Amino acid sequence: MKIKYLGHASLLIEVAGKNIVIDPFITGNPLAAGKIDVDEIKADYILITHAHQDHILDVERIAQNNPGVVIVSNFEIASYYGKKGFQFHPMNHGGSWNFDFGTLTYVNAIHTSSFPDGSYGGQPGGFVLETNEGNIYVAGDTALTMDMEIIPEMTELDLAVLPIGDNFTMGYRSAIIAADYLEVGLIMGYHFDTFDLIKIDHEKVTKAFDKAGLELILPQIGDEFELSVEED
Ligand code: NI
Ligand code: MN
Repeated sequence: MKIKYLGHASLLIEVAGKNIVIDPFITGNPLAAGKIDVDEIKADYILITHAHQDHILDVERIAQNNPGVVIVSNFEIASYYGKKGFQFHPMNHGGSWNFDFGTLTYVNAIHTSSFPDGSYGGQPGGFVLETNEGNIYVAGDTALTMDMEIIPEMTELDLAVLPIGDNFTMGYRSAIIAADYLEVGLIMGYHFDTFDLIKIDHEKVTKAFDKAGLELILPQIGDEFELSVEED
């Protein structure tokens, strides 16, 4: 599995020969300018955790550039794009579906989820992605929640992608506790530095994860990682 950081909470995951974009917010992110070209993005699926602007801004543009793309989210968000003529797959909390790239589960997040135009975006969520090339949890915008303890009951995670920017989501101290709930040693931080309110002290955060015995990936925009998974 390859994971590319597109900035903010946007990811491009390549798994089983499919390209999966999560929460695309590129054209509105000045930090991504010159590093990510939204029109170059190839997508078979777009996964959306919730309806806030900083998670959906480039959904329609990428969908228009990639005819046949399937938009996956909660019922309200998926239907919102369905009404605009895009292909969609609606899910809701606790539900799993076997896609051609692996099994996806839409899981709880504690946050809010209205569209920029005021439409109801359902309840926010995160995704657990189980594949032959590894299992990952992408938390979306969320507080630390005991619900995270459910995830390792079902899935042995290789990586958790967690918000660490604080203010609108949990911060790094909560993310360290989340790693314990999730029973995972490898964390990728996201949803940081994009806005003044979520700027983090990289050194302080890195040290805190170190001290907790956790491996933290603090990605630069455009960085690409290969998730290597131990064979059973
Ligand atoms: Ni949000
Ligand atoms: Mn956000």
